Amino acid sequence: MIDYRSDTFTKPSPGMLEAMFKAEVGDDVYGEDPTVNKLEALSAEMFGMEAAIFCPSGTMTNQIAIKCHTLPGDEVICDHVSHVYIYEGGGIALNSASSVRPINGKSGQLTAEQVEQAINPDDIHKPRTSLVSLENTANRGGGACYNFEEIKKIKEVCNAHNLALHLDGARLFNALVARGESTKQYGEVFDSISICLSKGLGTPVGSVLIGTENFIKKAKRVRKVFGGGMRQAGYLAAAGIYALNNNVNRLADDHRRAKMISEALGKKDFISNILPVETNIIIFDVNGRLGPADFAEKMRENNIKVTVISKTQIRIVLHLDVTEEMVIQTIKVIEQL
Ligand SMILES: Cc1ncc(COP(=O)(O)O)c(C=O)c1O
Repeated sequence: MIDYRSDTFTKPSPGMLEAMFKAEVGDDVYGEDPTVNKLEALSAEMFGMEAAIFCPSGTMTNQIAIKCHTLPGDEVICDHVSHVYIYEGGGIALNSASSVRPINGKSGQLTAEQVEQAINPDDIHKPRTSLVSLENTANRGGGACYNFEEIKKIKEVCNAHNLALHLDGARLFNALVARGESTKQYGEVFDSISICLSKGLGTPVGSVLIGTENFIKKAKRVRKVFGGGMRQAGYLAAAGIYALNNNVNRLADDHRRAKMISEALGKKDFISNILPVETNIIIFDVNGRLGPADFAEKMRENNIKVTVISKTQIRIVLHLDVTEEMVIQTIKVIEQL
């Protein structure tokens, strides 16, 4: 079976498993797991930020960040298809008692001008705007990458209006590899950054939230309340350290393979609106001779799994458990449809 449903479907590689087996562990709720401490220090250092906290999921790191940056009754600006808004179970309302100002950005990305226009005036009738949350790469934007110059402009708007700036960087390493950018430049601009280790980087579990000492101190309290305090989590952190050291540069292979598949898709009469493929995600419309469900079914008959993400769209995600041979096989199947 070739599984393109998500880059979360990877299984730990032998090298990663060996690193996990060998991990030195302790009770992380007491701050005594040396491997978790090492992963947190490594992550903070990579981004040139002060501190980091290891959590079970990207949903948790995002939700903790939002809770730490807001007060009940505040408002968060984000794109209308961002993960924090549409895929986290209404967590902004539930966990932070804050409202969302969803913006219709381009490919899941906001401009500084859109952010500026969405900030509420200082008026008792309006919720207090306190946070801007960006997503890079943008999942529902087809893995699109921000232009870093736009991010810097958004930061200027945030500074001028005293807003915090959070990054949902579940797939930030895909953007860094695709755009030749550095972790440090992101660390300089964002107040908090969430990175996922369990997507393109291939660990079984885990995300890291990075920020200032003070912010992470607050985040530790919130993680406990959310039930995210883990004990001998060093086994999982060891997978994260392995992933950061070994699985970043190879993301370029996923990006190249995504382009190969999208080129094959582009030749089919029933496929249209392929979102520009910059990283490891391909989103496209299926209509005409086949619809999305027919396409998914035909692929499944050939042992290939894809996801129907809307009434018209399919999503294919490349990752480290998809080999070059599997991609060539997939292209052959597409050509025969
Ligand atoms: C952009 C983005 N942010 C956050 C998450 C949440 O990660 P998790 O599944 O670890 O909660 C995902 C998951 O797919 C995602 O795509």
